[in-house]
Amino acid sequence: MLLIKNGRVLDPASKTDGVLDVLLDGEKITELGPPGKLLAPPGTEVFDASGLIVAPGFIDIHVHLREPGQESSETIETGTRAAARGGFTAVCCMPNTKPVNDNASVTRFILDRARVAGSVRVWPIGAASVGSKGEAIAEIAGMKDAGIVGVSDDGRPISTAKLARQVMDYCRSLDLPVMEHAEDVALAAGAVMREGVTSTRLGLRGMPAATESVCVARDVQLAELTGARLHIAHLSAKASLEQVRWAKSRGLRVSCEVTPHHFTLIDEDVQYDARFKMNPPLAAREDREALLAGLADGTVDAIASDHAPHEPALKDVEFDRAPFGILGFETALGLALEQLVESGRISLMRMVELFTTGPARVLGMERRIASGQPADLTIFSTAEAWTYEVKNSPSKSRNSPFDGRDFKGRPMATIVAGRVVDKQ
Ligand code: DOR
Ligand code: ZN
Repeated sequence: MLLIKNGRVLDPASKTDGVLDVLLDGEKITELGPPGKLLAPPGTEVFDASGLIVAPGFIDIHVHLREPGQESSETIETGTRAAARGGFTAVCCMPNTKPVNDNASVTRFILDRARVAGSVRVWPIGAASVGSKGEAIAEIAGMKDAGIVGVSDDGRPISTAKLARQVMDYCRSLDLPVMEHAEDVALAAGAVMREGVTSTRLGLRGMPAATESVCVARDVQLAELTGARLHIAHLSAKASLEQVRWAKSRGLRVSCEVTPHHFTLIDEDVQYDARFKMNPPLAAREDREALLAGLADGTVDAIASDHAPHEPALKDVEFDRAPFGILGFETALGLALEQLVESGRISLMRMVELFTTGPARVLGMERRIASGQPADLTIFSTAEAWTYEVKNSPSKSRNSPFDGRDFKGRPMATIVAGRVVDKQ
């Protein structure tokens, strides 16, 4: 058993905010109570959380673990260790592996590897189309039986409105969220960053915000047509957020996530360095302002890292030739504390919601600190000063634009099924 003593428990589901002890017995939370009042049997391990926040286990609903097929960039073992370091107790891995996770045998392979080598829970996302090629619908029901929690062709959008409708119809009957990488591929063709003064100055081809928002508009209308649960991945543009806000006001089952890099950086921050290259690209100042407003007013449901490791041999090349994507796990909480909480834009409770109950709801799950619930907890400091040094990351890759950045606040212990899987 594990007793977590004297921590400030923040539980968005029950709106609990107070100093409590929490007792864990293997898989489950046994009890919570006032400090010093719980009866723990002899031999119980004790974690002193004085001065720290005790939150439900953080869930990252958008990550790339690269296994199977691209193990020189990441594996389930190294990726989940980096996730644990970042305070995440569960991660949803996107299907753009080699082979693509478009059938039950790949899903089972991922879950088997995670059981053997994973530090945190791994919940796979299945492809929407065979090979994510956008032609034929994938074997979604078979993957659901094997354990997928959502469907996406991430890396690309679902190719056409016709296929998106078919996928949504199918996922509605299976009660799975369709997680869309919203992009008009023709509008984006050849672009490597957001179109604007900075792209011109750097001599890089840019894509407009509409690249994302026209696809969001298409999908919102198809969500209305089909009644499906639509989730917009890594939403970056003000116009996209307005679509989501409109959809929610109509009572549609539409949700969205925002990444720490999109609420922290803008296109003006892009340097001629592929660590600033990701898709969707860093957006305009007014987009970032809109995302911050959406994070505060509830339009945004979740913070997701889009952890996208690429080994140096692939990433340390000319901007145009480098793949899209940056590391995300270990800087997510620090950036959220700095940009959202320290800045006074949202409360600590709302930030915890964006890492826990928010993403859980997207997946149709619950997350709370209560007896009988899974013993997954994230314990973090809002005060501890530290510097992110990517060379010390458990990830196999090094592609972070935040290398060397100073932070205030960090995960101190990540607990999965009653076990401390990472501790600072
Ligand atoms: O930046 C990105 N990286 N965006 C994506 O959509 C795919 C991802 C990856 O797989 O590297
Ligand atoms: Zn994507």
